[in-house]
Amino acid sequence: MLFVVVFATIFTTSRGYDNGSGSALPIMGWNSWCTDDYCGLLDLCFEEEIHEIADAMVSSGMVEKGYRLLELDDCWSDTKRDANNNLQADPARFPSGIPALVEYVESRGLILGLYTSAGDKTCKYNRPGSQGFFDVDARWFAANGVKLVKADNCGVSGGEQEVFTNFSHYLNATGVPIIFSTCEWGNAEVWKWGASIAQMFRINQDHLPFWTFNLTNGGQGSKEIIEVMSNPDIGGSTVRFGYADPDFLMTGISSMTQTESETEFALWAMFGGPMIVATDVRNMSDWKKSVLLNTDIIAVSQDALVQPGRRVKGAANGPQVWAKRLDNGDQAVAFYNAGDVDTIDISVSWDEIGFPAGCNVTARDLWAHSPVSGSLVGGGVAKNVLPHGNKMWRVTLAN
Ligand code: GLA
Repeated sequence: MLFVVVFATIFTTSRGYDNGSGSALPIMGWNSWCTDDYCGLLDLCFEEEIHEIADAMVSSGMVEKGYRLLELDDCWSDTKRDANNNLQADPARFPSGIPALVEYVESRGLILGLYTSAGDKTCKYNRPGSQGFFDVDARWFAANGVKLVKADNCGVSGGEQEVFTNFSHYLNATGVPIIFSTCEWGNAEVWKWGASIAQMFRINQDHLPFWTFNLTNGGQGSKEIIEVMSNPDIGGSTVRFGYADPDFLMTGISSMTQTESETEFALWAMFGGPMIVATDVRNMSDWKKSVLLNTDIIAVSQDALVQPGRRVKGAANGPQVWAKRLDNGDQAVAFYNAGDVDTIDISVSWDEIGFPAGCNVTARDLWAHSPVSGSLVGGGVAKNVLPHGNKMWRVTLAN
């Protein structure tokens, strides 16, 4: 018990910037980006489709499980500002306008998030960016009931800390609590200052809908992003109200298999960042539901202690063990096989996750939703972890 108290004291002291927008836990939701395979070309972003998504988030059980954000990415706005210099919705896509959309999604228990860029244009199709209009746009978002603003980096030519701090200032000056989501791709070591101005801050290039992909400038697969997460400076930068953001979950999109999507979901939950799904959630397959609606793993993501998980064992291409401290003194442990070929067993000693050496524990398998059997004195072995796959346990110290 003393152990629990000591950890709770040491690790709950740092906090991010609570602007009253309800970000005490990592936000969960849905975003329109990459809802096709090509990210931006045919994404779901017409009024009728968005209504269907909101409805599906309710009927599938997503809203009940905590997915409460519905966010439109670089797709919703017109290519020109209106006569008063305000942003406006693309009339062909959203003929009823943004306030009506807010009303619709809020009637379904969701909040609406919208995208802009902190530069002079957005990243696709040169829609207007917010540069030079931070005050105008902040007031427009606030007046229209938008509860999250994602600010991209296209058209920003350096000086990100100052630019995004400035935008944050204008959003907060509206007096309306709005979640600020920065998307400056991890430039300017955002993990050192992001949590002081934003409720979530992107730490990396775009997550492309692939397991592995390493485009130096432009995109990464799940595997490469997990490596970014393993950097202790970046991983450790999440605090309550300020979450390091590894980008969207690409569950089942493009070539992402069930095994890979499970690992992505498990590691994102361990990392403790936002859990925002970019996939069509209408008519989800059973396996997609089994991933996105996994209550045991969602509980790890949404744990009240808000401790980022960390890699405690292993390296880039091999077996790895990740651990995350939880509010009741338990730890979540993910056994991850980053290899491409062999199915392997992965072991851990409890002292490697910070429990006393030689201790006994009980464990629950968070994918099988059942107790882990066999001896767990001193450590545990996750059997038959598939290539790109994971096992995830919740480990409780035995009395
Ligand atoms: C950038 C961002 C993505 C997405 C697109 C939209 O690439 O990093 O998350 O918003 O722009 O064009």
